[in-house]
Amino acid sequence: MTDQSSNQMWGGRFAAGPDAIMEAINASIGFDKRMAAQDIAGSRAHAAMLAATGVITDNDAEAIREGLLTVLSEIESGSFQFSTALEDIHMNVEARLKEVIGEPAGRLHTGRSRNDQVATDFKLWVRDQFDAAEKGLLALIKALVDQAEAGADWVMPGFTHLQTAQPVTWGHHMMAYVEMFGRDLSRVRDARARMNESPLGAAALAGTSFPIDRDMTASALGFDRPAANSLDAVSDRDFALEFLSTASICAVHLSRFAEELVIWSSAQFRFVTLSDRFSTGSSIMPQKKNPDAAELIRAKVGRIFGANTALMMVMKGLPLAYSKDMQEDKEQVFDAADNWMLALAAMEGMVKDMTGNRESLAAAAGSGFSTATDLADWMVRVLKVPFRDAHHVTGALVAMAEGRGCDLPDLSLEDMQGVHDGITEDIFTVLGVENSVNSRMSYGGTAPAQVRAQVKRWKEILAG
Ligand code: ARG
Repeated sequence: MTDQSSNQMWGGRFAAGPDAIMEAINASIGFDKRMAAQDIAGSRAHAAMLAATGVITDNDAEAIREGLLTVLSEIESGSFQFSTALEDIHMNVEARLKEVIGEPAGRLHTGRSRNDQVATDFKLWVRDQFDAAEKGLLALIKALVDQAEAGADWVMPGFTHLQTAQPVTWGHHMMAYVEMFGRDLSRVRDARARMNESPLGAAALAGTSFPIDRDMTASALGFDRPAANSLDAVSDRDFALEFLSTASICAVHLSRFAEELVIWSSAQFRFVTLSDRFSTGSSIMPQKKNPDAAELIRAKVGRIFGANTALMMVMKGLPLAYSKDMQEDKEQVFDAADNWMLALAAMEGMVKDMTGNRESLAAAAGSGFSTATDLADWMVRVLKVPFRDAHHVTGALVAMAEGRGCDLPDLSLEDMQGVHDGITEDIFTVLGVENSVNSRMSYGGTAPAQVRAQVKRWKEILAG
């Protein structure tokens, strides 16, 4: 006789139930209940296929279908009693199905295993998240393109080493992030297309002797095709790793922009004003308006990349096919997905609401000898001086201006001629920041006309 407390799904071989600690380490229901809808969708597709192939009767399939819908509505309404003893979402659903419809429930698991079942459920869940990420990225890109369009010709300092380098335009800076998030978008789409193969029907690891139709379940679940190797199908978690690595790279991009917003919104910079809706106050310093959302977005990369590292390490060295280690995949992905979507939405909200401070940007653009390169380029172009020599002369002029506490355009022609006698009045036409940015018409350069061309290209992409 089997002990009454042993598992009702596989208790036949067992004389005793699990130790409480065994149950605690083994159970995943606490988190995999998030895949309930996917689990039921997978079971419905499987049952319909079993009936179509004559493995179970139409009556049983109909009972299973009705029963699964009942279970789903119980889960959605919150009345479902999840049980840790039943380990995971798969066994919780099946056990409840048995209570609801009785004997036919026992036929659902024909020609399938929890190994292909969990791979299928998890893929469906991750696929939805890729779709959510695509939406979030498109919305963020649109917000950035709108900012770029509004300030296509606003001048601001461009930096290298966070030292003023050359003037750029606000629009150009916004469009740099559009390119980054655009690559994230293309990674999302690539990975989604690559993952869209159905593991269902791979069974435990070797396939099944039942005459199942894997194309039928694949297409019912929106997969492009069934996965071609059953061993691989149950042990593959590349889709989760690609999701996490794509999320990680995107989170790096988000953190870089978040960092810029933190700097730009400071009293020292005043490049941008964040809206009250995306800022917080201080409980002690009444004057403060803190960029908390930007800081938290900057921090999210820590846990997202942490999840990526964690799952890489879980998967490393695992022999084929399924191992229980793989149950550790879900919490990492769930947490990373939640935080990635939140960070995308928060960044979109901040970008939509923020105001670039045109005057502060322009004032900063002209400081720090930002048009020194333009001066050197002018000498090369007009005086045919080799660039290295022009660089040297310009350096001397910068030193002179620095010594006098003024900017390059404030030096007199005589001062300049004292350093290089070929310099003429014409030099002043290139020293203004507007002239500087307008002149950078090379493809992908910062000139407003180039920015507007990129805005137009992206608007067409966004319009589909
Ligand atoms: N809860 C398990 C997981 O998430 C489901 C698969 C269990 N398979 C098994 N053979 N024990 O991975």
